[in-house]
Amino acid sequence: MSRKKLNIGLFGFGCVGFGLYEVLQKTPGLKADIKKICVKNQNKPREIGAENFTFDKNDIFNDPEINVIVELIDDADAAYEIVTTALKSGKAVVSANKKMIAEHFEELLELQRKHNVPLLYEAACCASMPIIRNLEEYYDNDLLESIQGIVNGSTNYILTKTFKENLSYEEALKEAQEKGFAESNPILDTGGFDAKYKLLILLAHSFGYIARPEDLLNIGINNIGGLELKYAREKGLKIKLVAQAFKNTDGNITAFVIPKFVDSNDRLFNVDDVFNGVITKTSFADEQFFVGKGAGAHPTASAVLSDISALSYDYQYEY
Ligand code: HSE
Repeated sequence: MSRKKLNIGLFGFGCVGFGLYEVLQKTPGLKADIKKICVKNQNKPREIGAENFTFDKNDIFNDPEINVIVELIDDADAAYEIVTTALKSGKAVVSANKKMIAEHFEELLELQRKHNVPLLYEAACCASMPIIRNLEEYYDNDLLESIQGIVNGSTNYILTKTFKENLSYEEALKEAQEKGFAESNPILDTGGFDAKYKLLILLAHSFGYIARPEDLLNIGINNIGGLELKYAREKGLKIKLVAQAFKNTDGNITAFVIPKFVDSNDRLFNVDDVFNGVITKTSFADEQFFVGKGAGAHPTASAVLSDISALSYDYQYEY
């Protein structure tokens, strides 16, 4: 299959942006070069030469050779501006910004259709686990009955550390932040919001159901106290933050994010640390179980890389 040469305009050069840079250095077979990197902070020391950087987004948008925008910034509002401008100017987009995608799903869908240009976001949901592509392709004709799992790496890391190593909640959260797993505002992780944004993306690709963030209940792990931990330890259980969605017999969808006690018979019991785990149930395949690292520079960059590779042969989601 012949592949397009890709010239990338990258927005953001934080943990994942630099991870992508490193990953692309190690995949010379893929004809994809980062042509320019747009960053906000002019004074921050960078790992690579100044000639790669720009502080003006128009240097990227107005460059006719740049045919792919990769958006890896933290701020969902700024990400929205970048992604919508890119789609309107006919440039393909890869984004890892789950909040931005979940909040603007319908409009982003419309822009893709109107401008006939793809937006891919495998990295926005469970990082290295290729769940969106599986839902899109493998299950194309096998109808989903339910999908549930651990979709936030930071909270799973925190819960694992408090259970296994008796770390306090604050210590475990600090570690998750130092390792680059947590959002810059960690309440998005601990309050179950990040998991909800990912669940909203999963709902669209599992059931074609597009909901708004305010439509779904999310309860995080930030209110879990000593009593719950004590109970779980005594009973040989673990606590996991689980995102769940299922199709009711009337065809309606129920979906929410809640912390759950899980026992050792549950597949999610052994999904620890920064790993994510997702169980799908479909009409024909029955149950399947996916596991992969759900956060971190290289696991997230691997999903971005996979999207870049898919764009080189003009892949787009069908929804
Ligand atoms: N903060 C997110 C998590 C990063 O911990 O899962 C990956 O989406």
